[in-house]
Amino acid sequence: MKRKIKAMFGRADATTGSALARRIRRLSALERSEEARAFLDAYHDAAGHGRALRQRRWAEVRRDLRKRGHYDHNPEELAFGARLAWRNTGRCIGRLPWESLEVADCREIAGPDVIAARMSDHLREADSGGGIRSLISVFAPVKGTDLPGWIESSQIVRYACHHLSDGTIIGDRQNAEATRLARSMGWQPDDERGAFDLLPYFVRDSNDRRVMIEPPRDHIREIDIEHPVRSGLSTLGLRWYAVPLVSDMILTIGGIDYPCAPFNGFYMCTEIASRNFADVQRYNLLPQIARALAIDTTTPFWRDESLTELNRAVLHSFQKAKATIVDHHRASEQFMTFHQREQARGRRVAADWRWIVPPQAAAACEVFHLKMRNFHPVPNFYRDRGMDGLRLMPWYGDRYRRRPAIWADRVTRRWKIWKRMAW
Ligand code: ARG
Repeated sequence: MKRKIKAMFGRADATTGSALARRIRRLSALERSEEARAFLDAYHDAAGHGRALRQRRWAEVRRDLRKRGHYDHNPEELAFGARLAWRNTGRCIGRLPWESLEVADCREIAGPDVIAARMSDHLREADSGGGIRSLISVFAPVKGTDLPGWIESSQIVRYACHHLSDGTIIGDRQNAEATRLARSMGWQPDDERGAFDLLPYFVRDSNDRRVMIEPPRDHIREIDIEHPVRSGLSTLGLRWYAVPLVSDMILTIGGIDYPCAPFNGFYMCTEIASRNFADVQRYNLLPQIARALAIDTTTPFWRDESLTELNRAVLHSFQKAKATIVDHHRASEQFMTFHQREQARGRRVAADWRWIVPPQAAAACEVFHLKMRNFHPVPNFYRDRGMDGLRLMPWYGDRYRRRPAIWADRVTRRWKIWKRMAW
């Protein structure tokens, strides 16, 4: 009864079944402490700390975990944890510079207005001349059953999707639902027929109330897409934003979850050209591109040709605007370097082949021929405990283990995944 009343009037917490409570991982006290221990070991190894310091810190953390089911990372641990989370993200091809991730400690910030203010600053800092910096803002963590505010939208900068009365759909189809929601909350687009209207994003406060925030236009750089030689493309009026700021992934470090930890990197040209513009469920532009560039659509390769030209245009336009971008061939080379470096340090790389291999010229990229496995190590990022969050757990495979210990690890992993499944 008490719980029900709390659910109706009080703060949302992990027991009331809010949208966030359904997404965050459920760990037993033992699992949490195992992750904390593994993380602190990794941190102290990297920092080269001696035994006395390690033992003191672990005693502290263990006591906090036992008492409150929570412990606070110090700023160095937080920064290291966030970088490690990036290094462990199996779906990212651009992890070579993982150590250079800049971490903004925003754990004191709560409440939609201040989160929004920080997001404008984040966008400004990420793209303030001299190339795009990889940056993460880490807001308050989940503490026991206490849930902080969080961002509901998948990215801070996105384009709206308009349904016209004659049945045409304009804009980014992926955001049809978000656009409907924004309109229902009173948002009006500048232009009912705009294909690149900036969409507001949504923050949930700690009471689970939804707040709509206008995107900070002054800090959003958009780039007009033009082809270096073929002028036909400019007639389509394509554009894209410079900084992808991903805001719906939960950062998990040493058993502590940070549900609001938006981060940005910079684009690889295929993300925009081969997917956002070309996917049928996104902008579906290939037929228009072919027409604009007078590509012969009677050959079966008209799509390939359009895709290549579109990639050329996106790369060229970003480079011309001095917005950092990488093409997929270079990204693939850089991933190979990352892979070699990690192995030289005695670490296996967690990687998801379906995501690492670019959607363009796949087998011409070296990563296509690389054997990969994603063993979902922590720290990491995840979206939902029922999907990717389920598999996350410490990885001990880099250490020498005897065969029975390897088998025991394998059984434990299976068991944990099974135990966490939503039946
Ligand atoms: N693929 C997403 C998009 O097209 C962005 C994901 C993050 N990408 C990145 N390069 N960090 O908007």
